Amino acid sequence: MDGVAGSRLIVALDHPDPAAARRCVEALAGAVERFKVGSVLFTRGGPDLVRDLISERLAVFLDLKFHDTPATVAGAVAAAADLGVDLLTLHAAGGPAMMEAARNAADRSERPPRLVAVTVLTSLRPEDHARVVGPGARRLDEAVEALARMAVDAGMDGLVSSALEAARLRQALGSTPLLVVPGIRPAWSASDHGGQARTATPAEALRAGATYLVVGRAVTGTADPSAAVARIEAEIAP
Ligand code: C5P
Repeated sequence: MDGVAGSRLIVALDHPDPAAARRCVEALAGAVERFKVGSVLFTRGGPDLVRDLISERLAVFLDLKFHDTPATVAGAVAAAADLGVDLLTLHAAGGPAMMEAARNAADRSERPPRLVAVTVLTSLRPEDHARVVGPGARRLDEAVEALARMAVDAGMDGLVSSALEAARLRQALGSTPLLVVPGIRPAWSASDHGGQARTATPAEALRAGATYLVVGRAVTGTADPSAAVARIEAEIAP
């Protein structure tokens, strides 16, 4: 994995079929070291799939967006830590006690995963956000920043953020928190925005302060995923 050590790229395995996800990982052998497993693939492929990836010395970003009582989330974080995942997500809206319980559970584990909080789902439009939060709601961008501060204060290692929010969060929170940024579209990518309105190119997202770039269809939806990765790595090489 020498060529990819320290790469900032995470490839999202958004395959509904675990066998197809495994084929994708094989096609990217030696080119990608970190993969995202989300709720669709995890619900179908289960912890065995995650264990298999980790046993192949790959890093797993477990994107299950935990949001529950503090004790339940602590138990889920401990289970994910036992699997050996590198990064995992939870919802900042679960509140400080939930996030602190997650932090404590991670710290008690042998290999603590890095905890990354989701603030406001980027799929939520401002008018939906206002309906969810109710009368007198903060503006969406203010809510993102307030939840991000709460997450960092509760001991989270970082945040999931759109590229458009990343610059503002970097400015507000400084250089330490990880910023994991999905919604990446290389300029040359043939794929349309497929449900993602707030996209950026890999270079734009890094300039905005991203630590990791989460790329799905721009890699997995192409005929030659490893060629797509090579183009992205060339674009983002320091
Ligand atoms: O669009 P693409 O296929 O690159 O998406 C990759 C991943 O980014 C998906 O797993 C999706 O869940 C995640 N994503 C996200 N927030 C967005 C858009 C996509 O977390 N606004």
